[in-house]
Amino acid sequence: MTTEENSQPYPAGMRILGIETSCDETAAAVVVDGHHVLSSVVSSQIDIHARYGGVVPEIASRAHVELLTPVIARSLIEAGIQDDHVDAVAATVGPGLIGALLVGVSAAKTLALVWDVPFIAVNHLEAHLYAALLEDPEIELPVVVLLVSGGHTLLVLMEGHGNYRVLGSTIDDAAGEAFDKVARYLGLGYPGGPAIDAISMEGDPQSMQFPRAMLNEGYDFSFSGLKTSVVNYVRRNPEVHTADVAAAFQEAVVDVLVTKARRAARDHGAKGLCLAGGVAANSLLRERLLDACVADGLRAFLPSRAMCTDNAAMVAAAGWYRLQSDGPSPLDTGADPNLRLVSTLS
Ligand code: KG4
Ligand code: ZN
Repeated sequence: MTTEENSQPYPAGMRILGIETSCDETAAAVVVDGHHVLSSVVSSQIDIHARYGGVVPEIASRAHVELLTPVIARSLIEAGIQDDHVDAVAATVGPGLIGALLVGVSAAKTLALVWDVPFIAVNHLEAHLYAALLEDPEIELPVVVLLVSGGHTLLVLMEGHGNYRVLGSTIDDAAGEAFDKVARYLGLGYPGGPAIDAISMEGDPQSMQFPRAMLNEGYDFSFSGLKTSVVNYVRRNPEVHTADVAAAFQEAVVDVLVTKARRAARDHGAKGLCLAGGVAANSLLRERLLDACVADGLRAFLPSRAMCTDNAAMVAAAGWYRLQSDGPSPLDTGADPNLRLVSTLS
């Protein structure tokens, strides 16, 4: 089905309530016409999961149940609208933790039924792609998006709305997962990405060299060997400074990510490079991607840090584009923990 065949005219000024509960952030937002954010409320469960060193699915589901109603209420209050002024409800239906997803999906369908407005099923990965567009609706396509989160590492060629090509992905750990695992090994706590980002500022990235797996091979990534190298290095050199290890590890991850993203943009004639996902908040990655874009004459799209990590504004934005192309989603659409990013045009 093409966008043209399905285009449904919806009046300008649509206020979409977005709901995000795929992992450990309970979030709700109101966004007008896919780009004007009236409110974006995120309640993070990081403190609840930190003592376990990672997200505990059952605890995440229960916390979403407790938090979602107040988070939605706050998003409406901050948006300055009454609940009968919501024009559609969009929710992440996957990928993610099944119990966590079900909380948001059930709430969204219920509200859509009660308010008699469309329900829009949103792919969490597509939502991350729209985070950059949300802040910069003038993005000139095609762009290559580097989507790096706790669960995914994807290089995506975005040629139009709903028109994506996944050029490469990780064959083992996601980039964020590598940050989290290495941070845990180094005793830096959870989540690992921000901790490694911070401590690396005090370290020397050149004090040791970690491997760059598959650097010159295609667009796929592999990070599990890097994690093993870090562990082996620290075992052999127990006196090493943690800040130096963290900085050298971060340098290796960023080197691979930027090299491949840059090559993908060049090979596919992209106009720009765009970052998405939680790891896109990483200071070194943002700096290096910007440098690469300047050197290659590409536009750099770096969403604000709040827009990189999980939030519901990106869900409402992606939902608006989905509504324009596909219309409302059926109310029997289920949550799908393994949902993939599939182009509607391929
Ligand atoms: O997109 P996200 O909020 O949730 C998922 O959909 O996975 O990404 C979370 C991931 C975690 O692995 C976290 O450690 C990583 O993003 N992260 C970072 C930074 N901030 C968050 N990684 C590196 N540097 C950061 N500053
Ligand atoms: Zn995410």
